[in-house]
This record gives sequence, C-alpha cells and structure tokens, in this order.
Amino acid sequence: MIKMRNFFKVILVLILVNACKNDSKTETLSMQKEITTDYKEAYRPQYHFTPPAKWMNDPNGLVYHQGVYHLFYQYYPDDIVWGPMHWGHAVSKDMVHWEQKPIALFPDKHGYIFSGSAVVDVKNTSGLGTIENPPLVAIFTYHDPEGEEAKRKDFQTQGIAYSLDNGDSWTKYEGNPVIGNKNTKDFRDPKVFWNDRTNKWTMLLVAGDHLQIWLSDNLIEWKKVSTFGKKQGAHGGVWECPDLFPLKVGDTEEEKWVLLISINPGAPNGGSGTQYFVGDFDGTTFTSDQKQHKWVDWGTDNYAGVTYNNTPNDDRIFIGWMSNWTYARDTPTEKWRSAMTLPRKLSLQKFEESYGLINYPLAALDSLIQKEESKDVTVAAAQTERFVFDNFNQTEVKFTSTRKDFFIMFKNEANEELALTMDSSQKMVLLDRIVSGKTDFQEDFGNVIHQMPIDNLPDAPFEVRILLDKSSVEVFINGGQYVMTDQIFPTQNYTILEVENVKETPLELMDFQISKIKGIW
Ligand code: FRU
Repeated sequence: MIKMRNFFKVILVLILVNACKNDSKTETLSMQKEITTDYKEAYRPQYHFTPPAKWMNDPNGLVYHQGVYHLFYQYYPDDIVWGPMHWGHAVSKDMVHWEQKPIALFPDKHGYIFSGSAVVDVKNTSGLGTIENPPLVAIFTYHDPEGEEAKRKDFQTQGIAYSLDNGDSWTKYEGNPVIGNKNTKDFRDPKVFWNDRTNKWTMLLVAGDHLQIWLSDNLIEWKKVSTFGKKQGAHGGVWECPDLFPLKVGDTEEEKWVLLISINPGAPNGGSGTQYFVGDFDGTTFTSDQKQHKWVDWGTDNYAGVTYNNTPNDDRIFIGWMSNWTYARDTPTEKWRSAMTLPRKLSLQKFEESYGLINYPLAALDSLIQKEESKDVTVAAAQTERFVFDNFNQTEVKFTSTRKDFFIMFKNEANEELALTMDSSQKMVLLDRIVSGKTDFQEDFGNVIHQMPIDNLPDAPFEVRILLDKSSVEVFINGGQYVMTDQIFPTQNYTILEVENVKETPLELMDFQISKIKGIW
C-alpha cells in the first residue's frame, strides 16, 4: 500500500498467470493491475475487511504464521459478480488492520480455485519445504468448469500449493489433484488441520449432503476414514465449508468437538447459513447426539465461516463471509462486492442441558473503539428516549438490559429505519431491515423480519452489543450467546436512535454507551 498525499491508497495488484497452462509450477508475471481506492465509496465498510475492488466470497486458508494472520478469500479480479475463482490475499498483525497482498492462487488447467484451508507443515511431512523453513501449504478444491458444463459429476477435485516465503508466492504441487473424484457432484471445501493426538493430517470435505473425513501423513496421500451427517442436521441445501475443532465447555475441563457446516439454501431466515453440531471426535469419526438444528448466527449475512489454524494460545478465531447467495450478486455496491464479518472468538458454554457455541468480536477490536462514558438510562412506561448522534454507521451501541423486552430503532433523515426488538412473550429477537435503506435490488433482501429464538437466554441482566458499519449490523446478545449479522444499505448515515418502552414499568438500560469506531483504512 502506498499513500499518495494522504488521500488515496494505491494498491498494486500483481496478477500472476500461468505462462504455460500445462506446467502448474511456472507462474510468471504477465499483467499488472492498478486499483485505486480511498475506501470511501458509498456503502464501503470502514472497519470490516473488504477487497480493494471486485468480487469476493468465502474466507479461505485462514492460518497464522510467523507473526501474521493470513486471510485468503474467494476472488474474481475481473468483475463484481462471481466468476473464475482465484484466492485473493490479505494479512494482518493485529486482526484489526489489513494489508492487501497480490493474488495468491490463479485458476489453472485443473480448474478454478474454490474454497479451502492452509496449514503450516511444521515437520515438513510433505517434503515441499525444509524443517528450517517449513512450507505453508494451501489445500483447495479445483472446480473444472468444462466438466460442469458437460454435466459430468467428477468436476471437483482437491489440490494443494505451497509457499516458502510466508504466503507471498505460491507453487502448485506437480502431482495435483491429490484427491480425485469418482462421481460425486458437490465435493469440496477441504479444511485440514494437524491432529497432534493422532499425529495425522485430518481433512474435512463435504460431499453434497454429508461430511467426509480423510487422513494423511504427508498432505499428499489421503485416505477416507468416515462420514457424518446424511441423516443429521439441516438439509435444506447443499453442505459447504466444514470445520471441526475441540473447545472446553465454559471453565470446566470437559471438552467437546464442534463441527461447522454451512448450508445453502436452508438457513432459518432464508438462503445461506451456518449450522453447528456439538459432539465427539476420536481421530477418525465424528459423532453427535444433537437433535436440534443449531446456528452460529441468526442473521442472513454470515456464511462459509471457518476458523484459523495455528493461532497463538490456541484461540479459536472465526471469520465469515458477510453475505448470502440469495442476493450476494445484487447488492448495491459498484467497485467491490461484499465484506467479511468481524473476526470472532468462538467458545462453548452449557445453558441448561444444551451446549451453545458463543461467538464474540475479538478483544483486539477494542483498540478501534473510542469509548464514551456510559450512563444508566431509564425509559418511563410507554415512553421513548431519543439519542442524536452525527453518525451511527461507524458506532458501537452497548448496554445491559434488565428486562427481556426492548425496542430500539436507528433512523436517518431519509426515513430509513433499522429496528431491533426483544420480545419476552415470544422469546424472540427480531431484526427488521425492511425499510433500513436500499432494499429493492433483490426481492428477498427486505421482505421479512429476521427472527432469532432466545429460549436459553439466562435471566436478565445481560449485555446487548450492536456494531454498525456503513453496510452492516452485528448484534451480540449476552456476550455472543445469540448473534445476528445483517447487511444494510442506508442511503444516509443513521443519526437518531430511539429506545421505546412498550411496557407499563420503567425500562432500565444500564451502562448505556454510544462509541465511535475508528476506520481501519
Ligand atoms: C461457498 C462456496 C463453496 C465453494 C465456493 C465457490 O460459498 O459455494 O462451496 O468452494 O463458494 O466460490
């Protein structure tokens, strides 16, 4: 990134393409594209990750190595709609600020580069690096568009690539694909991790309606050892982007494994969403006796989320794609399309007899929040309290509620409104973006109120934390027990916040705080 008179940031995206399509090892510099952005276009998020320009979907290859957090992502550098997939790349030292990097992986003779993961091959089991300089290995799906066109079923295979300079340059493995395809139509999104209990590389792969688990000693030769889920969980759509990891339950020594599975469509509020299963994993097989369908996030815009490999302190850090396949291609931005959710820390808690996956922004975000003093606010029966602020669309609103009933509304001068309701009689939180701004770009974007059942919410008081950016709202209730993430496209910033007390007794919001959030670009 180069700063030009402090106004513009010019990002040079070096486009590397295969000089010779048959030789996946030789990648030469053939084109250089210059992308100029000041990150100030209409709707441009100010503290969420976006690519400088063009189309982005899933986060890929989340891995920490040598002091940096890598964020690769599904990227199409030639348009703001989905197309031949590359892996875009950015890095961060603090999980708050991001530095844009050149494209990491380009399509080749095996196909487009679909979603996948990355690992540090510390013991150089693959032989692709050395013990002194262990390779970073990316494991991804090859999607062969010709096979798809020909209506074959074997067009998705798994390939690998490696980097010996911490992600700056990549070489595809000569023997790709490392996992072929016999006849499985949807066969993709490998998530690989090193299981130090079994000393095996473990791969999660989805195959349409179920998960497959594969094991390897060297990241190159793989063996399928088990399957999960044909008859469990939500099946309203195809299974995508799996992840599996252990978490301790609260402060106890009990450990459970959590399986994430994105499905599209079939999410509770329509389109794409991410379900999870809590269970056990013995190194080869995942089992769960969970009956209920559980969701990471009840908003419509948190999809294909997965977690980092190799983080310091074993933190389980999650990033999702803040969009939904139902309208992802139609959202009203022109230069780039879509953003990532805030990075969130995952943890596990037991509420009554049920395990709940908690997701909550990393503490690192606090460095951007310009904390204002908090105060207790009391709203008398049947009254409305009004707060005026110059710009809510880069703000944190936080309070502790003493009651499981409140009604909050953000408004602007164009009469656009975003409403959040908690209703104890229905045991429900409702997020209403129907008239929140521009919504008519696609018929399903603003047609219904998004609902989140809160059956296991402990008795009040509990925290409500709302993070608003230019085109998103993230709601975290009780420290991330209940979460909703939605895109919004207000044509002006919201400047008014109303808190209405619909009941006959006073409503107390403790530690009420409105704080500006600094931009990251
Ligand atoms: C999820 C997904 C993945 C696939 C990728 C293609 O959003 O459909 O299953 O690998 O996007 O871009």
